[in-house]
Amino acid sequence: MSDRPAAIAIEDLVFGYRPGREVLRLDTLTVAAGDRVFLHGPSGSGKTTLLGLIAGVLTPTEGRVRILGQDLATLPSSQRDGYRGTHIGYLFQLFNLIPYLSVTENIALPCRLHAKRRARIGGGLDIASEAERLAVRLELGQFLTTPVTELSVGQQQRVAAARALIGAPELIIADEPTSALDTDLRDRFLELLFECCDEAKATLLFVSHDLALGTRFHRVLSLPTLNTAGGR
Ligand SMILES: Nc1ncnc2c1ncn2[C@@H]1O[C@H](COP(=O)(O)OP(=O)(O)OP(=O)(O)O)[C@@H](O)[C@H]1O
Ligand SMILES: [Mg+2]
Repeated sequence: MSDRPAAIAIEDLVFGYRPGREVLRLDTLTVAAGDRVFLHGPSGSGKTTLLGLIAGVLTPTEGRVRILGQDLATLPSSQRDGYRGTHIGYLFQLFNLIPYLSVTENIALPCRLHAKRRARIGGGLDIASEAERLAVRLELGQFLTTPVTELSVGQQQRVAAARALIGAPELIIADEPTSALDTDLRDRFLELLFECCDEAKATLLFVSHDLALGTRFHRVLSLPTLNTAGGR
């Protein structure tokens, strides 16, 4: 076992969007640094909610979520935003690309906003060159200056993945990023994502309701099970 702190450590978590209406209860969940974890659960089971709690966008009603040893709820909101932007690459369910920016400008964004993430770009590259390198790596080389509104869904998804990966955040969170893709594209995308995570030694938490994908990961977690009996 590595002596790095767990990428994710959750204890006695309870969350509701409104008082008295609990949508998530999780006794314990630990994801070790470098793990590749698949989170499964039916629609409405709380997968996106859990990711929001891990990213510190939502605050637990009860219990504790620590990311790389840091409890985000104890940080003032500006520091929480900085911590998230530095250490977490978030691949959103609906991509959340900035429509008026090009492919490479979207990819570069986290490093423009977070100096510590910018500082982790290796190989003496500046932000624009690193954004371009990742775009090519994710097979977007022909679209570097294309507005993202002119891309197919699969291409937009790869832009979102490159944006999550730039500046080598320790934790990559991906929320149903393959749901709109056919089987071939989905498999190719997963391969690329795994390769990039391995290169950066990043932990990957990947959410999907497509349980068939689970065999490609080190661990499969199921939210309804976690809700009743707790995880590892
Ligand atoms: N902003 C919100 N305000 C109030 N309730 C919400 C909000 N977002 C989600 N919920 C409720 O929380 C529960 C979990 O929703 P969540 O989006 O986490 O599910 P999910 O597992 O990601 O589903 P899907 O697979 O459809 O994306 C649902 O019952 C949903 O109605
Ligand atoms: Mg969801």
